[in-house]
Amino acid sequence: MKVNPQQLLDDGYIILRQVIPPKQLDELRDSFEVLVERQKTVWARERKPDDPPGGAWETSAQPRVFFDEVVNEETANAVEFCLHENTLGVSQQLMRAPEAAPTLMALMCSPVRDHGPASWHRDIDPVGQAPLRGMQMDILKNASGYVQWNIPLYDDRVFWIVPKSHRRPNTPAEQHHLLTDARAPIPGGIPVELSAGDGVVYTHVLLHWGSNYSTRLRRTIHLGYRAFGGDVYPMGDHFYWNLGFTKHLSQRSRARFEHFFQLHQQQCDLIESTFRAILNRDADGFLNGLVKLHPGTEERMVCVVYLSKLADKTRTLKNPDIINLSLEERIDAISAHRLSFYLFEDFARRFSVKEAHLLCERFSTLFEKVETERVQSVPDATSRVRRYQLTQMPANFDVEDFIHSWDA
Ligand SMILES: [Fe+2]
Repeated sequence: MKVNPQQLLDDGYIILRQVIPPKQLDELRDSFEVLVERQKTVWARERKPDDPPGGAWETSAQPRVFFDEVVNEETANAVEFCLHENTLGVSQQLMRAPEAAPTLMALMCSPVRDHGPASWHRDIDPVGQAPLRGMQMDILKNASGYVQWNIPLYDDRVFWIVPKSHRRPNTPAEQHHLLTDARAPIPGGIPVELSAGDGVVYTHVLLHWGSNYSTRLRRTIHLGYRAFGGDVYPMGDHFYWNLGFTKHLSQRSRARFEHFFQLHQQQCDLIESTFRAILNRDADGFLNGLVKLHPGTEERMVCVVYLSKLADKTRTLKNPDIINLSLEERIDAISAHRLSFYLFEDFARRFSVKEAHLLCERFSTLFEKVETERVQSVPDATSRVRRYQLTQMPANFDVEDFIHSWDA
């Protein structure tokens, strides 16, 4: 399947027909139904005291099965589909990267009772990641380092998008709509109409909407892929899986996931050495690392902002008050997802408390500049929608300025 990366940059999405080869559709439907049943058992077991007997299956507006967690030998084809030319291969083409890997393998299901529409949103957080224009320009001037997919097993038109909205911040009218009437159709929004087996691949910076979480049967595969070695540092960089499930796979598939994991480890090594260069005020060492993490010459500063957030999370995880908290509280402390948290803890083990603090000192001028912009544009950072108003990267502060700021 051939795709045009420019189409993704222009429109923010591409609809592809028969991403699931028709011959595979029935067997994938069967496997995913088994996986849903297996997950339902887990949810029932893990229900909270006030939950109904089915737990999350009954309470969630959109029950989401991270199917690698429940996969077995008989359903391995579900995971193996994530390695297919039409999914992984297409993602790699779109990201113009030498390598790509699945980060997220989920199945979105219809709820047991009608929940109606969700809210329009972008899947990114400019306050937690990087100012919105920075993230957008990084994609537009280089490439997307992360793509997301919806691939329905049954016809599906729940997902709506605002085409091209990945290229710009919300308009004042859109921002008003999201703040006052987020669960209604938005001007410029269109449904993505997919037949069983079709797929939409998109950049999750795009404004999008789950238009109706009704009980109509929905089984839609939801995947994320990140690039390795492409022009940008991916805004979605961590895996929501660990290698445990791969024991159920064929040797060939297992080897591929092991390879992805290695790529991730190598990236962590590279970030560690880049951080150590910063600690040592070694400008050449830092630039050497940065150029590998973000080969694209434009918008490299966006990668530095991502790194600053990782440094901040590392410091938080090293904090003696945090280390002794429960797992749930530690996850909350860095706003992580439970499935990728272990990667941050693994990374934090690479640094001492003292190093983590010193590292954040080196980032302090950048932190201040981003925070000044944040205070002006997003006085109320508790609102997900208002956080989209953090659009501007720090003015007149480029990589060289960051290096000079180490001595401040
Ligand atoms: Fe979303």
